[in-house]
This record gives sequence, structure tokens and C-alpha cells, in this order.
Amino acid sequence: MPIRLLSTEVASQIAAGEVVERPASVVKELLENALDAGAKNVTISIADAGRTLVEVADDGCGLAPEVRARIFEPYFSTKKDGTGLGLAIVSAIVADHRGYIRVRPNEPKGTRFIVELPVREQADFQEIKKKAVLS
Ligand SMILES: Nc1ncnc2c1ncn2[C@@H]1O[C@H](COP(=O)(O)OP(=O)(O)OP(=O)(O)O)[C@@H](O)[C@H]1O
Ligand SMILES: [Mg+2]
Repeated sequence: MPIRLLSTEVASQIAAGEVVERPASVVKELLENALDAGAKNVTISIADAGRTLVEVADDGCGLAPEVRARIFEPYFSTKKDGTGLGLAIVSAIVADHRGYIRVRPNEPKGTRFIVELPVREQADFQEIKKKAVLS
């Protein structure tokens, strides 16, 4: 099967779309969890259009320590119909962006997820271009 590299322009467009799209799915997963936790108020904070920081703080039921220890495990869920994949996917996206995700108790109640993403450099786009192939 012939493989050819994408043009710089097309690769950059794909990379730009990915940068915007995937942090949005991080917010969606974290927001769904906050609502499932019975939150009445959810605060979403972003910096740099979600490229460098996404924080979702809720006033839901909070995390018991034994649950907290397992939330990023694939298939770990305390919900009847949960797949347990939401946070596993979130942590994969964050790792893919060489970022960090932290979870803290929110005050006075609930949970706060903090996602930090490093600013993407031109070198990252070059790397994506190398990986991106058309058949
Ligand atoms: N904001 C939150 N407040 C309280 N518990 C949470 C919160 N976010 C996650 N959890 C706990 O972490 C577990 C794993 O979350 P994850 O998103 O990976 O799967 P899920 O939500 O159970 O399933 P799915 O994502 O398929 O709906 C949840 O079942 C829940 O116990
Ligand atoms: Mg979930």
C-alpha cells in the first residue's frame, strides 16, 4: 500500500483541529461525571481556549478514598450503566498532549479536576506531520 506524507498545510490544519477538538472532549467527559455525581453547580475554567488549562469543579458527592484510587483505571465504574472508560480516555488524551491531570476535593464539597496541557510548539506539528499518512 503506497504511503505518502501530507503537505505541511494539511498536516497543520489537522493538528489545529485536533488541538481544539480533544480538549473539548475532555470537558465533555468531566462535565458528564460532574452531573452524574449530582452536582448543582459546575465551574469550568479554561485558559488559552482550552489549549493549556481545563479545570472542572463540581459540588457533587465527592470521591471516597477507595474510589479516588481507581478512577483512571479502564472499566472501573461505580455506576450501574457506566463503562468506566471516560476518565481512562481523558487520561490518554492528556498523556498524548504530554499534559497532567490532577484531582482534588472541591470546597466545601465535590470534586475538582485540573488538566494542564503544555503549549504546543512548531516541533509538535512537525511530529504529527511525520505520523500523518494517506494511503
Ligand atoms: N466528578 C466526579 N464526582 C464523583 N465521582 C466521580 C467524578 N468523576 C468520576 N467519578 C468516579 O469515577 C468513576 C470512573 O469515572 P469514568 O468517567 O471513568 O467512568 P463512568 O463515568 O463510571 O462511566 P462512563 O464514563 O462510561 O459514563 C465513576 O464511576 C465515579 O465513581
Ligand atoms: Mg464518565
